[in-house]
Amino acid sequence: MMKWLYQQVLKRFLFLLNPELVHSLFVGIGSFFGKTKVGRGLVSQFYRYKGKPIQLKVDGITYTSPVMLAAGFDYNGKLAGVLDTVSFGGDEIGSVTARPTKGNPKPRLRRMIKSQSLIVYKGLKNDGVEVIIERLKKTKKPKNFIWGISIAKTNDDKTVTTEAGIEDYCYSFRRLNEEGMGNFYTINISCPNVHGGESFTTPALLKPLLVALDKIPCEKPVYLKMPINLVWEDFQELLVIADQHRVSGVVIGNLNKNYDEATYIDEAPKNYRGGLSGLTCQKRSTDIIRKTKAAWGNRFTIIGCGGILSVEDAMDKLDAGADILQLITGMIFEGPHLMKSICEAYAQRMEDRENNTQQALPEAQLS
Ligand SMILES: Cc1cc2nc3c(=O)[nH]c(=O)nc-3n(C[C@H](O)[C@H](O)[C@H](O)COP(=O)(O)O)c2cc1C
Repeated sequence: MMKWLYQQVLKRFLFLLNPELVHSLFVGIGSFFGKTKVGRGLVSQFYRYKGKPIQLKVDGITYTSPVMLAAGFDYNGKLAGVLDTVSFGGDEIGSVTARPTKGNPKPRLRRMIKSQSLIVYKGLKNDGVEVIIERLKKTKKPKNFIWGISIAKTNDDKTVTTEAGIEDYCYSFRRLNEEGMGNFYTINISCPNVHGGESFTTPALLKPLLVALDKIPCEKPVYLKMPINLVWEDFQELLVIADQHRVSGVVIGNLNKNYDEATYIDEAPKNYRGGLSGLTCQKRSTDIIRKTKAAWGNRFTIIGCGGILSVEDAMDKLDAGADILQLITGMIFEGPHLMKSICEAYAQRMEDRENNTQQALPEAQLS
């Protein structure tokens, strides 16, 4: 019913409007609903998973749902008090930067409807770490809901040198830790839309960044948001560096920079800048997840992200080796019921596994 309503009515209307306007509308409505018991109850009624418990523990953190909102949708932390009602287990807030960032010139967001992708050219627009810390302090954190905070470097010409860029990351990381804000941190080294490009996705630059971050006291898991356009050998080199530092895991991954991989390339306007989300990320991210799991086993927690547009896509990511999931574009193209459907499928998957183990036991005892 909710799926039909979204796809046949609401989505048709929303997709006629400017995507950035729709985003602002959703954030406004969401944060309003999040502040009242009635609002939260109403959303929960339709969108909250209420089946048998599906808790999962990742790096000591207990999640009540295997799917989180990926970084970039709630970049100012305004939805941090409501997303549990739509079956998210956590919110990766941000990316936040040391100083407020205005973002790139508009247009910053565009839909490629047939390709099930968004062209994202936000340029890390956000209110800055201090304002976001204060906002989160005033937000009632939902019970058993996880706040991850994604940190990037301020997108302006003051941070183009390596030293200034590192200091910028360190400032936000230090402040968040000092304030005890968030359950985990993700260092976004791979935003494709910033001054100077993806500056920390080479071993030579990632190394000093991680050395500097290691010096800041932190008791919480630290993850790296990885690029998906590197060849495996280069990706692997970044993991080798990560392995030498306080990195618990990797989010695989960020936007796809290769427009040729969109299903309908003609949907992309000429000379448009930005990375592609959704279906255009799907295969690349799942392949890299599989390779990372095969090469590194359990060394890195893997947060699977990129092109989860259906329950099957979510299960594919888990089968490839992801420990937990994140999404944005699926929620926009498929609808806000997607997260609940993923929870239901996850519960079924758990049940099937339990049954299989029980069936396998007597056989194992016989042999
Ligand atoms: C509107 C938008 C803004 C984004 N901004 C960020 C960001 O600030 N930081 C970040 O690490 N990733 C950002 N991303 C990338 C997403 O976190 C995610 O990696 C990517 O969209 C693939 O997931 P999806 O296919 O489920 O959307 C953004 C994505 C979108 C769609």
